[in-house]
Amino acid sequence: MQHPFHCPETSAALTRGKDAFSSSNGKRYPIIDEIPWIVPHSDQLLAEWQVLAQQTLAELLNQGAQAQEELSRCALKSSSTRLQKLATAFPDQTKLVENLLADFLAKPLGAPVSQALQKILPSNQRLFSYLSNVFRDWNWGQEENQATLAMIEKVFPVGTQGTFVFLGCGSGRLMYDVHKKYEPAHSIGIDLNPLLLKIARKMFMGTELSLYEMPALPRTTEKAAVLRSLKAEGKLKGSWDLVLGDISALPLANGSADVVFTPWLLDILPFETPDVIRTVHAILKPKGTWVQLGPLGFRRRSKRANLTAEELAELTLTQGFEIKNIDGAFLPYIQSPAESGLRTEWVTAFSAVRDSEPATRLPLEGLPSWLTNPTEPIPKLKSIETSLYVHRLYAEVLMMIDGKRSIEQVAGLLNQNFSLEATEALGVARRFFRSAWEAELWE
Ligand SMILES: C[S@@+](CC[C@H](N)C(=O)[O-])C[C@H]1O[C@@H](n2cnc3c(N)ncnc32)[C@H](O)[C@@H]1O
Repeated sequence: MQHPFHCPETSAALTRGKDAFSSSNGKRYPIIDEIPWIVPHSDQLLAEWQVLAQQTLAELLNQGAQAQEELSRCALKSSSTRLQKLATAFPDQTKLVENLLADFLAKPLGAPVSQALQKILPSNQRLFSYLSNVFRDWNWGQEENQATLAMIEKVFPVGTQGTFVFLGCGSGRLMYDVHKKYEPAHSIGIDLNPLLLKIARKMFMGTELSLYEMPALPRTTEKAAVLRSLKAEGKLKGSWDLVLGDISALPLANGSADVVFTPWLLDILPFETPDVIRTVHAILKPKGTWVQLGPLGFRRRSKRANLTAEELAELTLTQGFEIKNIDGAFLPYIQSPAESGLRTEWVTAFSAVRDSEPATRLPLEGLPSWLTNPTEPIPKLKSIETSLYVHRLYAEVLMMIDGKRSIEQVAGLLNQNFSLEATEALGVARRFFRSAWEAELWE
């Protein structure tokens, strides 16, 4: 099958070369370890992910060293068993992740680090952000995966074919199950996270992998670190692609998809939901179907933006869609047999058919222009002003600490330098140092 990719910056068709996709006007998108990175500023994003991956690996080693060090001082037998597990699992996990990402890590830094520091990734997207989803997808999550597929089938009965696009496909379980069940002509999974895509690819190819699951609250000492084998029930047959892409600049032409899935995605995106819906509308063919599924866990400061399922349905109707089927149910969510907590979420699913109006694809402006254009003045945001005041105060207090002064003495200086009442200054200093002490206690 002819590849479906278009330039995310100009929409021009791309040509596939040996190690990159390129456009006639010189844009180049690398293929790294068989996954095309078709995103604007792909070299910058590569450098950012490399830096994040190195940080994650260093953190794994640190955690292992800490477990080892605490083990050497531990008198309790059962704690020693747990610490021993962690002391072994963390460095092993480092090697497993390093092996998995070897090609990507070995690439020369995509862009100078100074450029990489101009962050492209939202701060909630990290290498391990969705690691528990991986174990759910490919080890213990059969019941959850089947429940999700069943909900999809309820709102979107088997029958439709053509090109299916999975936005935020993660490590790919839903894409795998839907592709097998619906047998579309082609499936395209798009995600921003290179580790998840790499795992998805390995699974689709029928390869087995191992990774440690280290639950936040292990159910038993034994389950503090469990080496999980990840494997699909056979190779994913037919025609499919996995691509590293960003929903804010999709590598697809307008009107190219028959079905677009947005599983567990809408509420975590830093964009206005109507703009995301318009993007889905634009990449769908007229009369194409949008299948939305997930809880609505928006946690925006704006109360207006925190939509309920009812509001999302109404909004969908205003954006050129007709809702065909809608359903809601409690679904188990990442209920690991190793964890103490079991999450259940109210999930709404619907299928909505696109009208025939011409597509109006908006650039999804996640970032304001003063962030993307380094020559623009930075506005005096309220958060910046508050943070300035707080940081000045913090800096003053921190500079007073010389290993000799007491809380009372620091409060005295606050009383003099910041004209705080003596009792207020003592309270402020106490609270400040208590938080500093707590920061050593909690993760
Ligand atoms: C909550 S997870 C859901 C993953 C998967 N759909 C599932 O149900 O397990 C959200 C996914 O969206 C991806 N993602 C976040 N922002 C994205 C963006 N701007 N473009 C593409 N994918 C994105 C994340 O990497 C992650 O895999």
